[in-house]
Amino acid sequence: MASNFPLPNDGDALAGDALDGNAPIPQQVQSLFNSIAPVYDQLNDQLSFGMHRVWKRMAVAWANLPEGGLGLDLCCGTGDLALLLADAVGAQGQVYGVDFACDLLAIAEGRAQRRHPRPAITWQQGDALALDFPDQFFDGATLGYGLRNVGNIPKCLEELHRVLKPGAAVAILDMNRPMGSAAPILRKFQEWYLETLVVPSAERLGVREEYAYINPSIERFPLGPEQVDLAKNAGFAQATYYPLALGLMGMLVAHKA
Ligand SMILES: C[S@@+](CC[C@H](N)C(=O)[O-])C[C@H]1O[C@@H](n2cnc3c(N)ncnc32)[C@H](O)[C@@H]1O
Repeated sequence: MASNFPLPNDGDALAGDALDGNAPIPQQVQSLFNSIAPVYDQLNDQLSFGMHRVWKRMAVAWANLPEGGLGLDLCCGTGDLALLLADAVGAQGQVYGVDFACDLLAIAEGRAQRRHPRPAITWQQGDALALDFPDQFFDGATLGYGLRNVGNIPKCLEELHRVLKPGAAVAILDMNRPMGSAAPILRKFQEWYLETLVVPSAERLGVREEYAYINPSIERFPLGPEQVDLAKNAGFAQATYYPLALGLMGMLVAHKA
């Protein structure tokens, strides 16, 4: 697998359009995720008390792929959502797991190789803002904890819309800022939890700085209703945002007409 994936420069049209000084810089995100690859799964389980596994199953259910279908797991990381999608489409189906961080993809590939029978997953190093697939290719897609990290959220949603077949859905799971009357106290709890539990755990594994990015990334991530508007602007006919875990997590489910 290639060790480096060429990304557009900050000034280039692809990622640069939405780089407003707050958006994540793709090159930095790519090297951040490569550097946390060895501890990523361990920390994911610790941070969510294992709940990310449940939410990922919900994402696969919402993506609603037919047996024998063609599925996409975008920003697939170490591949757990792609493996669940492969279970959903069955032996006659096919899944693509796409990510730009080669070290995470290598872990995903190793995981799939240890499974018997071997799941039909193609791991592809690629940019979520310029997908290397034809229009109307996939029967459904998932995106776990990735939308918050891409350099251009509208472009990523447009790409998802482009590669989905008519009638297909994408389920987008991510950490979110809570909404409603209890939002201030829940957000305070979220910040406390990240600062007091997550960052120190990451520090013990030598990746403190890499996990300190989570709180600012949540702060700048659009709220659920804004995500719905972004999905509709990207061309999706229907989009619904479902808060999870008191709104600290959320799932955006968008359908193409
Ligand atoms: C927090 S991880 C999530 C991994 C996995 N989906 C999960 O749920 O555990 C975010 C992933 O998004 C990937 N990513 C971020 N921006 C990307 C982009 N523009 N193109 C491809 N992958 C991207 C990172 O490399 C990283 O693997």
